[in-house]
Amino acid sequence: MKARAWIMLVLAVAVISMSGCKKKETPVKAPEVKPEAKEIGQMSANKESFGKTPDGKQVDLYILTNNSGITAKITNFGGIVVSLEVPDRDGNLADITLGFDKLDGYLGEHPYFGAIVGRYANRIGKAEFKLDGKVYKLAANNDENHLHGGIKGFDKVVWRLEDIGVNAEGAMVKLSYISQDGEEGYPGNLACSVIYTLTEDDKLKISYEAETDKKTVVNLTNHAYYNLAGQGNGDILGHELTINADKYTVVDEGLIPTGENRNVKGTPMDFTTAMTIGSRIAQVEGGYDHNYVLNSGGGTLALAVKVHEPTSGRIMEIHTDQPGVQFYTGNFLDGSIKGKAGKVYQKHYGFCLETQHFPDSPNKPDFPSVVLNPGQKYATQTVHRFYTK
Ligand code: BGC
Repeated sequence: MKARAWIMLVLAVAVISMSGCKKKETPVKAPEVKPEAKEIGQMSANKESFGKTPDGKQVDLYILTNNSGITAKITNFGGIVVSLEVPDRDGNLADITLGFDKLDGYLGEHPYFGAIVGRYANRIGKAEFKLDGKVYKLAANNDENHLHGGIKGFDKVVWRLEDIGVNAEGAMVKLSYISQDGEEGYPGNLACSVIYTLTEDDKLKISYEAETDKKTVVNLTNHAYYNLAGQGNGDILGHELTINADKYTVVDEGLIPTGENRNVKGTPMDFTTAMTIGSRIAQVEGGYDHNYVLNSGGGTLALAVKVHEPTSGRIMEIHTDQPGVQFYTGNFLDGSIKGKAGKVYQKHYGFCLETQHFPDSPNKPDFPSVVLNPGQKYATQTVHRFYTK
């Protein structure tokens, strides 16, 4: 009898401890890598070394070129667009993005030059949000708020090369990154990928994908600073800008949306018809740093922005399926950064147009949702089209 009682006791303990055991989350796996450089005609996708991180990780530079001579150089450190050479109306190439010649520059402090920003681009108020009643605390790296994914966001990690080559669409490179459950305070293992494709018809497409194993929030963008006259070549105030947005999200002094979407009509915020960036910037305290509510509403690829630089004739159109775009005029550039070719970046030497979901959406139930559930796929696209006049 005694032995039977013991066996029953051991079985009962085993059953109780098994049922109490937390189900192990299986991290989402990245697909196999088969890097390979191929060339078709003049269109090419090649890889070279860009150096090593302080902890010894290899960093590469991927060079995508098309038949018009457009060259995009991208690194797997932060998924950064290191340079983008585009012809002017006479065919002369200039690098139109701000940044550094060497990896060292990107390893130091810099304002997200060319980088992929995530897990959540732009700000989350008070560095926290709630999902299903649970509060998630994030790093407060912008006063009391959370900015661009935290202290070590997607801009500061080494992405993995998934694929490089020339396909039917153009010269491409695919990078991936798995953000661990709890990283920077966010829930869920998030498997992300970004594909840069340079097409024959002078478009640079950026496609983002992500999947999670736990409910989370996602908002990915690219934070390139542009000067269509050439990087370091003066300020951007003479660029003519059109933004297809009748409204913008009004913000408080910490740049967190108040929840009001205000009409741009009759204000310095109005770029519904082409206006130079500098024409009314003095009336905007601190310069432009605002999220525009795109008229397309997001969901399908639509023309969001057009920028024309009259001296070079270069034009950049931005098409996106995102509901918003952050228009930022490099207000915090102050001449303290020496960038590519020894150029010093002064205030307003570059502008950013970060296609995105609205800032602080995790705390704003009326804004388009940024929640990603297990089994769903986050898939968005932004296309930059270049031509001249
Ligand atoms: C933000 C700015 C910030 C800049 C660089 C932009 O996306 O809106 O407020 O200063 O990024 O961090």
